[in-house]
Amino acid sequence: MCRPEHFEVTYAINPWMDTSEPVNRALALAQWDGLRAAYEARGHRVEVIEPVAGLPDMVFAANGGLIIGDRALSARFANPEREAEGPAYHDWMAARGFTAVAAARETNEGEGDFAIAGERILAGTGFRSARGAHEEVGEFFGLPVVSLDLVDPRFYHLDTALMVLDDTIAYYPAAFSGPSARLLARLYPDAIIATDEDANVLGLNGVCDGYHVFLTEKATELHEQLRARGYEPVGIDLSELLKSGGSVKCCTLEMHQVRTATGSGTD
Ligand code: ARG
Repeated sequence: MCRPEHFEVTYAINPWMDTSEPVNRALALAQWDGLRAAYEARGHRVEVIEPVAGLPDMVFAANGGLIIGDRALSARFANPEREAEGPAYHDWMAARGFTAVAAARETNEGEGDFAIAGERILAGTGFRSARGAHEEVGEFFGLPVVSLDLVDPRFYHLDTALMVLDDTIAYYPAAFSGPSARLLARLYPDAIIATDEDANVLGLNGVCDGYHVFLTEKATELHEQLRARGYEPVGIDLSELLKSGGSVKCCTLEMHQVRTATGSGTD
């Protein structure tokens, strides 16, 4: 995670960002501290990267790259405003000592567009990550990649429209092209379908640890749907970060374990 010490909205690269609307950095910091505390209270270890002045979106650590087992691929951002975040996350990964660390060749906004779903990777394209990045990621991690087309600019990253649960997903079909929505329906017949209201507060931008689901407190129907499936939703308030188009998942770059056929972690 990356504390929002330099958070502000000084440019607009998605429809949520309005540079004329003031942001309260003190509140953003307090809310972010709350998310970190919520993770730690439930047994998750949080590592932080040093925030860099002039990179207000660096708080959205999910975009920094992808980490699976001992391999890490750092991002290549689509917009020049965020370009310098790629090397910053790369340096952190290199210093962290993963066995293989590479910088993406293709435009790739990390976990923003790549969701690790068991033994496959779901990958978004249309606004940020290039389709060529899907192939590159599949090769680098040796996992099959399912490409999905995003069509609504409010849901510009895959993680704004789809959340991986234990062995299924929750998603918002209207964010996807017809063929991609049909593909998801076929792959995940038991998926949770989010309401318009919940999608529009970025309710799908959450993190599931197999039991807890950390997500905005505002996605009330989704909380009920998750509870009905046996998950424990943990409501988080990140209203200041929502002004930049981000929520819980955006603030979180997960270090995924390698899943074996039996589903147990190997590191
Ligand atoms: N303002 C940031 C951007 O537009 C928000 C990124 C949110 N991150 C995410 N993983 N969806 O790039």
